[in-house]
Amino acid sequence: MQQQNKPASRLTGGSEFIEMDSVGDRLPSFDILALRSGLLEWYGIQGRDLPWRRSRDPYAIWVSEIMLQQTQVKTVIPYYDRWLAQFPTLQTLASADQQQVLKLWQGLGYYARARNLHRAAQDIVSQHHGIFPTDLPTAVSLPGIGRTTAGGILSAAFDQPTPILDGNVKRVLARLVALSVPTSKAIAQLWQLSIALLDPAHPRDFNQAWMDLGATVCLPRSPLCDRCPWQPHCCAYHQGIQTEIPMTETRAPIPRKMIGVAVIWNDAGQILIDRRKPNGLLGGLWEFPGGKVELGETIPACIQREIQEELGIEIEVGDRLIIIDHTYSHFHVTLNVHHCKHLSGEPQPLQCDEIRWVELADLDSYPFPKANLQIIEALRQWRDIP
Ligand code: ADE
Repeated sequence: MQQQNKPASRLTGGSEFIEMDSVGDRLPSFDILALRSGLLEWYGIQGRDLPWRRSRDPYAIWVSEIMLQQTQVKTVIPYYDRWLAQFPTLQTLASADQQQVLKLWQGLGYYARARNLHRAAQDIVSQHHGIFPTDLPTAVSLPGIGRTTAGGILSAAFDQPTPILDGNVKRVLARLVALSVPTSKAIAQLWQLSIALLDPAHPRDFNQAWMDLGATVCLPRSPLCDRCPWQPHCCAYHQGIQTEIPMTETRAPIPRKMIGVAVIWNDAGQILIDRRKPNGLLGGLWEFPGGKVELGETIPACIQREIQEELGIEIEVGDRLIIIDHTYSHFHVTLNVHHCKHLSGEPQPLQCDEIRWVELADLDSYPFPKANLQIIEALRQWRDIP
């Protein structure tokens, strides 16, 4: 059968080739040695100097990999530096309080990452003598560590030939082979390619180089093909379809939730906050109480009902403080925040883990989700305006 998607100028100097079958496609053969050497040479010149690349400590590298899972490098760097200053070793993290851990993570989002990091550190101390595992099966058995994260850690810390398949690598591979289906439909084939391409002589640099290629050259919207060491091999480039690949997944539109939120004041000028249950979205974080607006319900009625259900108290809903739009991974929220006055009843944690009356000045010491930080800022501005 004739091959499709053949690159226009395939290099033939190497001796190792792979043949791959993909979902309904015949994928091309590649000169693996040329791909490896081209990428490593490029990395030697263009590779980024990132803080975690100066370390061989599996703990520090693990922290970086978890932070980088859903967050860009430039956002991660200050968090990474602060984290290692506060928790320099796996042992210091394991013995920390969860609130300290969440506070340090505040603003990075996807808080399950922080909770898992904390729990995994405790597991490593209790089950693995405090030493980060050096084998892939044990590493992936830890909370929050999947195959690509484990591959990233073990290759970076120990130079082990463990493959990776993160979003950047998927995009680079999809273009290299001109994948004709969305990457989610070809995960097994993409892993095979990642395994086949990984340079066993330089796994650390190869994986790091690959991430850099995806992050700085093989960009999602406007790839810089003229600067790409893999341009001579790239099927998508030779077919002129690099901006159409990876093919997009058909996604359902993201729903929007309207939320009524209460800033409840007592006679002493304190504000009532609650801590969410430990698991799920934003688990363990503090928030201003409130909940979803039901069909046909006004915002003040929603706030009154939610506060009665969640805390068992009567309040009077007053002026609006602020409206905040925020997007989480799978939905948008609109927070309609009102000042409220505590009228009667002793607040109880009926649907949360803990509640506290706090001074406005003390709110900073509690970990809050990003959208709630805007409420705190709005409160400060409101108080400062006479
Ligand atoms: N994304 C995930 N791991 C990374 C790393 N080690 N360097 C840069 N970006 C990354």
